[in-house]
Amino acid sequence: MTERVFVLDTTLRDGEQSPGATMNKQEKKRLARQLDTLGVDVIEAGFPASSQGDFDSVQEIAQSVENAQVAALCRASEQDIDRGWEALSQSRRPRIHIFLATSDIHMQYKLEMSREQVLEATARAVKRASGYTENVQFSAEDATRSDRDFLVQVVQTAIDSGATTVNIPDTVGYVQPHEMYELVLFLKEQVNNIHQAVLSVHCHNDLGLAAANTLSAVQAGARQVEVTLNGIGERAGNAALEEVVMALRVREDAYGVQNRVQTEQVYPTCRLLSLVIGQPIPAYKAVIGGNAFSHEAGVHQHGMLMNKQTYEIMTPESIGRPPSEMVLGKHSGKHACKRQLKQLGYRLNEEQHTQVFEAVKRLADKKKQVYVEDLESLVLEEIFRIPDRYRLLYLSSLSGDMAIPTATLKMEVGGKECQTAEFGAGPVDSVFNAIDNIVGQSPNLLHFTVSSITGGTDAQGEVTVKIEQQEQTAIGRGSDADIIVASAKAYINALNRLARKEEKTVWDTV
Ligand code: KIV
Ligand code: ZN
Repeated sequence: MTERVFVLDTTLRDGEQSPGATMNKQEKKRLARQLDTLGVDVIEAGFPASSQGDFDSVQEIAQSVENAQVAALCRASEQDIDRGWEALSQSRRPRIHIFLATSDIHMQYKLEMSREQVLEATARAVKRASGYTENVQFSAEDATRSDRDFLVQVVQTAIDSGATTVNIPDTVGYVQPHEMYELVLFLKEQVNNIHQAVLSVHCHNDLGLAAANTLSAVQAGARQVEVTLNGIGERAGNAALEEVVMALRVREDAYGVQNRVQTEQVYPTCRLLSLVIGQPIPAYKAVIGGNAFSHEAGVHQHGMLMNKQTYEIMTPESIGRPPSEMVLGKHSGKHACKRQLKQLGYRLNEEQHTQVFEAVKRLADKKKQVYVEDLESLVLEEIFRIPDRYRLLYLSSLSGDMAIPTATLKMEVGGKECQTAEFGAGPVDSVFNAIDNIVGQSPNLLHFTVSSITGGTDAQGEVTVKIEQQEQTAIGRGSDADIIVASAKAYINALNRLARKEEKTVWDTV
C-alpha cells in the first residue's frame, strides 16, 4: 500500500509573519475554509498567546473548520500551552504545536538555556499539552543547525513525553537537499522511539531550496510536510504548498507517496490568498504564475499543437486554473451569478449572493464582460473585506492638463462619517492627500503598482500599494473599473492592515 504524507499548511501562522501579509479574522476564516476544501490535513491557524487578535482567530477557525485538524502554536511554557488549548478546545480535531530552539546559538543567545534545561522544558511542555490532547506536535527550532546527537536526545524526549508529531525545522533556510536527506535518515536510525511519531519537516526558502529540501526529506522518510500558499512566510518564505504538492503528484513515481490534497483547488486557493493579502502572484512563479502554462517559442507552440505532453508536465485543469473567459454580462441573472460562484468554491448566504450580484451589475454597466477574475475580486471586496477601521464611502476626482488635480472624498472612520477635499501633484496624489487628511496620518508610500485584472481597455484596474510608518510596513490591494478609485481602496486597505499590525507584539520577543 502507498504511504501517506500529511500536509500541514501554516499560511495563517508562519505565512502571516511575512512582511505585509497580515490578515484580519474574517480573511483568515475565509482562507481556513478554503484550505479545508483544498484538503490539507492540518491548518496551523495562529499563535494564540501572541495577541488577543490571534487568539480570537484561532478560536473561530477551530470552531468552524469541518475536516482538517486545527493547530495552535505555543512556546514551551505553561501559560502559552494553556492559552493555546483555550483557543482550540472547541475544535473537532485540535493539535497543540510546541516549539523550542535546540541549536547552540539559539540556546545561548536567545533562550539563555543550557542543553539540560532545554531537555527538561521539552518534557514539561509536551507532558502538559498531552494532558489536554493526544495530538501534540513538537518542533525543534533551528534543528538543522543543532548538534545532531543533542537533536536525537530532544526528539526522543519529546516522543517519550507524548509528542505524536516531531518537526525538524530548517528555520533559517540553511540546509542543502542532500544534508536534509541524511538528517532525516539519521534521525530515523538513531531515535529509538521514532516509529511512535510522524516525522515532519518545515523548510524556509532563504537559499531558494525550501521545496527541494522538503522533497528530499520525504524521500528519506519524513511523512509530514509544512508548507504555505504561494510560499509566503518569514523572510524569503516557506516551502510553497503548490510546488511541493504538485511535485509529489506529478512525480508520484519518484516519491511513491500520496496525500489528500484536491489539486483542482490549488490555483483557486493560491489566488484567494493573493487577493486577500494584496500581493500579486509573479508571472514566472512555478505552478501558479501567469506564464506557467503559456508557450511563447514557435517550436514549443508547434509541439503543443501536435501533442500537449511535448511541453506540458501537468495540465492547467489539474490545478484548477479556469480558462479566462467571459462568465457574466449585463443581462446575466442572479441564478447564473450564483452558479459561477459555486463553481469557484464560494459558499455564500442569500444576502451575500445579492450583494455580489448587485456589484456584478454595477461592474457590467461599466465594462461589458465580467470574467472569473473580476468575479473573484468582487467577492473579496464585497464580502471578505471587512470594514476594519477605515472605509471609503464616496470619491470624486478631477484631473487633466488644465486642471489642478483635486479629490473630494467621504470616509467612515470607526463608524463616523468624515469628508474632505485636497489638491495634489496628480489625481492619485490628491486622493492620498485627502485620505491622509481624514485619517490624520501620512505614511511613506514605498510602492505603487497598477495592473489590469483581465485584458481590454475596459478591464478593472488592480492597484497594490506598500506603505511604511514607524518601521511598520503594510500592503494593500484594491480593484475597480476606475483606477483612481482602485488606488483609494488599496491605500485604505493598507492603512487598515497597518492599524491591525499595531496589535502584534509577541513575535518581537521570541
Ligand atoms: O521556522 C521555524 O522554526 C518555525 C517554528 C516555530 C516551527 O516556524
Ligand atoms: Zn518557520
